[in-house]
Amino acid sequence: MAEVHVTDRDGNVSAVDAPGGRPLMEVLRDANLGVEGICGGACSCGTCHVYVDPQWAERLPPAGEDEQMMLDAIKEFVDVRPTSRLSCQITVDDSLAGMTVEIAPEV
Ligand code: FES
Repeated sequence: MAEVHVTDRDGNVSAVDAPGGRPLMEVLRDANLGVEGICGGACSCGTCHVYVDPQWAERLPPAGEDEQMMLDAIKEFVDVRPTSRLSCQITVDDSLAGMTVEIAPEV
């Protein structure tokens, strides 16, 4: 279990308990923080887009090809930053305890 600090689209900050082994998208979706995860983690919707705190972003494994393609695809509609990630591609583990993310605007 890792506690993740989440800023929602209204600027509210929550501490969310994230069980190890689960995609971060599911944790954020189930916490009703505005993440829809429409494609269920198939890298094809972009509704799980988050901005990871820069100090944490560099600790994550790099985005895979599918994730990068989806981030490129949503650039037209939403601000995609160097720390942008699809939360469906981040698997929670203990090393993420204390990570800070911000929910990106809706696609
Ligand atoms: S849930 Fe669709 S891209 Fe992440």
